[in-house]
Amino acid sequence: MAFLADALSRVKPSATIAVSQKARELKSQGRDVIGLGAGEPDFDTPDNIKKAAIDAINRGETKYTPVSGIPELRQAIAAKFKRENGLDYTPAQTIVGTGGKQILFNAFMATLNAGDEVIIPAPYWVSYPEMVAICGGTSVFVPTTIDNGFKLAAADLEAAITPKTKWLMFNSPSNPSGAAYTEAELKALTEVLMRHPHVWILSDDMYEHLTYGDFVFTTPAQIEPKLYDRTLTMNGVSKAYAMTGWRIGYAAGPLELIKAMDMIQGQQTSGACSIAQWAALEALNGTQDFIPKNKEIFRGRRDLVVSMLNQAKGIKCPVPEGAFYVYPSCAELIGKTAPSGKVIATDEDFVSELLEAEGVAVVHGSAFGLGPNFRISYATSEELLEEACNRIQRFCASLR
Ligand SMILES: Cc1ncc(COP(=O)(O)O)c(C=O)c1O
Repeated sequence: MAFLADALSRVKPSATIAVSQKARELKSQGRDVIGLGAGEPDFDTPDNIKKAAIDAINRGETKYTPVSGIPELRQAIAAKFKRENGLDYTPAQTIVGTGGKQILFNAFMATLNAGDEVIIPAPYWVSYPEMVAICGGTSVFVPTTIDNGFKLAAADLEAAITPKTKWLMFNSPSNPSGAAYTEAELKALTEVLMRHPHVWILSDDMYEHLTYGDFVFTTPAQIEPKLYDRTLTMNGVSKAYAMTGWRIGYAAGPLELIKAMDMIQGQQTSGACSIAQWAALEALNGTQDFIPKNKEIFRGRRDLVVSMLNQAKGIKCPVPEGAFYVYPSCAELIGKTAPSGKVIATDEDFVSELLEAEGVAVVHGSAFGLGPNFRISYATSEELLEEACNRIQRFCASLR
């Protein structure tokens, strides 16, 4: 439509939302569908956090807040970075946004000029390249491999850097692969970055609190303090505290960048919801009991799903360190024929035939820039996961 902006032609709709939509449609037609597409915890927000929001309403905290967030929350964010990541930030170096999503958008909006490159390891969260495109930048995808645990290799990072590189978009634990970098793996990357002082690092730590076993989470500015002046560390309450709908994300970084992001936000939303900010304050400062309990539930589900998927014919599923996703390969099934008679030529065919034949909704890997794979979100009950994996096993066995 001629009326619409050219920028729109650079953007794709979200494949993850499309899958949820398709699953909903089939359900409304009476089909028995198990949706494993959603990227949010199935737990409810903890009561102490809900209560903080209700108290905020009753106190009349219902007005515009400072653009970058209420001082109490910015103080709590600075304290969180110190306590959990060993990073020193003043409250003025922090910003609160309407979800981590808006933080990323602000950062790209504030820094990207036409032709600027953003290195994005693949598979990647679907929104990164779309945000870069809207802001006029160019995404440079660097594929990883299943054998390398879907982690960016230092040599591949080095090879992707050009004079036009502005950011490395870094995400650990990763959506969609669940891969999380150990301290040594991260160190190998920060060593490369030290050789290229014009490259900034945007670290998306959204899944920090969802790592399993004895994995120790670290973030780039912590591993290499010399990168402090060119790192924006982003995080949020959506995943760790089951607060996706409250829409609170935050970041800390160099003051000048934070001020630029504040200016953009001031003309865009005037700041995040006042009530949700008071809730997020309780999330960060209140009891953290919720986190280890949920981690243990997610670990059990991960182990169940990985084990059952590896028993499906032709599926190879590595054990991810974190988040609530697995990213199995279906490479061995490409070229086979589904019960419908359709030949499975791509991972997109695999997921649509799986949905048709067995009513299991997952997201194809090509949507995340690396396939043939598919993403399963295990943020649902063990009972449903077991049933879904049984159906996947049956589907794979039915391919000829
Ligand atoms: C990797 C990653 N980063 C950021 C976000 C944004 O989260 P929110 O906007 O809910 O804070 C998500 C949500 O799915 C995500 O998966």
